Amino acid sequence: MATEKSQESSGELARLREQVNKYAILLDIVRVMNAETNLDRLLELIMQEATRVVEAERSTLFLLDQERGELWSKVAQGLERQTIRLKVGSGIAGYVAEKRESVNIPDAYQDPRFNRETDEKTGYRTRTILCMPVHHKGGGIIGVLQVLNKKGGTFTKEDEGLLAILCSQAAIALENAQLYERLRAAYQELKELDQMKTDFLANISHELRTPLAPIIGYVDLLLSEHPGPLTARQQSGLEIISESVRRLRGLIEQLLTFVQLGQGGGYLQLKEASIDSLLRAKVEAFQEKARAKELSLTLAAPASLPNVIADPEGIAQVLDLLLDNAVKFTPYGGRICLAAGVVTGRPFQASPKEGRQPFATGVEDVELVEISVSDTGIGIPEDQLEKIFQHFYQVDSSSTRQYGGTGLGLALAKKIVEGHGSRIQVESRVGQGSTFRFFLRTVSPPSASDA
Ligand SMILES: Nc1ncnc2c1ncn2[C@@H]1O[C@H](COP(=O)(O)OP(=O)(O)OP(=O)(O)O)[C@@H](O)[C@H]1O
Ligand SMILES: [Mg+2]
Repeated sequence: MATEKSQESSGELARLREQVNKYAILLDIVRVMNAETNLDRLLELIMQEATRVVEAERSTLFLLDQERGELWSKVAQGLERQTIRLKVGSGIAGYVAEKRESVNIPDAYQDPRFNRETDEKTGYRTRTILCMPVHHKGGGIIGVLQVLNKKGGTFTKEDEGLLAILCSQAAIALENAQLYERLRAAYQELKELDQMKTDFLANISHELRTPLAPIIGYVDLLLSEHPGPLTARQQSGLEIISESVRRLRGLIEQLLTFVQLGQGGGYLQLKEASIDSLLRAKVEAFQEKARAKELSLTLAAPASLPNVIADPEGIAQVLDLLLDNAVKFTPYGGRICLAAGVVTGRPFQASPKEGRQPFATGVEDVELVEISVSDTGIGIPEDQLEKIFQHFYQVDSSSTRQYGGTGLGLALAKKIVEGHGSRIQVESRVGQGSTFRFFLRTVSPPSASDA
């Protein structure tokens, strides 16, 4: 009697242990499932694990195609990989999809709902079926999970419990994967559109630039009076053409540079460069424009600055763009200052929130040259300060706006500065003026040990 009891309890213990094991496996499955974002792989994983967890021979996960009122499955274990389609309402899976309730069938051929067609086609013999709806969070169903032929018997209540847990977890993973798939498709589409736009811009700027060269050439020839003398009216007319065509060319070149920078094609060539001479040349070049608006344009820099690591043409372009804005957005009689000085900071990975110090922590301080363009112009509203660096963004983009331009300048300047591992920053007050600032790395002075 005592032995009978102990046998009974050790049997119970073994059963419990087995049950705990199964739940542990299930937990593992859930973890793996949740990490899978590829829908096809997830479907396969769910089927494989459903088969394993209830000790069946095979399983099929059907997804519901709401529009067509059909269930479909792409991968059927054991069968060839192909898409199977079933009408909702037909066969066991169709019945479960329609009624949204589970069925546990101990003998398939005795069940009038069972459709023998697949068995007849494949030569497989279905004996037992456990089939369950996979419910949405929202209430409807995503699909139906069907497992066939319990090894060595019929599906138990415990199998039903295990499969129900698997189904509820599968629902979450499936919804995530479907969402992920949609996101991936949308992202891909965006990337293709972006590439199309870039190609288009590159082509169109190239095509637009080509006819400008002969126009400029001939206007210059006429202005040289080589072909014959000009009247004063002809001369001033030609000068207007010359000025406008050159502006147009500048604009197109700006567009081309922008596209090239976007493609990242090693456009910048960083090398040791003298920033001194560059700054002086720029102040000189902008004097005439400034004078035309009665603006004072000054340079505030120490007598000599260390050399920097930069692409001189790129930096010249940044200064052009910033000075052009300063002149454009500063009313008559205002002041513009191009300033430079040596500071120490931590290079690269800037955060605009860090205020005057743009560089990230975690790297040693190095010597930098700070370059800024300040004006006493119209200023920029606080909520627009980040947006002005987006391409084609202008604070006033109305058709009646007072200032010309396309809104590419700052986007271009930002890219070039970032190509130097730096960031462009702005401080501004409406009605008082703006300061744009960026930093360049100096060529490190020889250390004592090098001497
Ligand atoms: N110094 C400044 N003062 C006031 N507003 C400015 C200044 N610089 C830029 N902005 C604002 O930022 C916008 C974007 O400048 P950005 O240089 O990118 O374009 P743009 O000057 O309008 O055109 P583009 O430079 O292509 O000729 C400007 O339209 C203007 O609203
Ligand atoms: Mg501009």
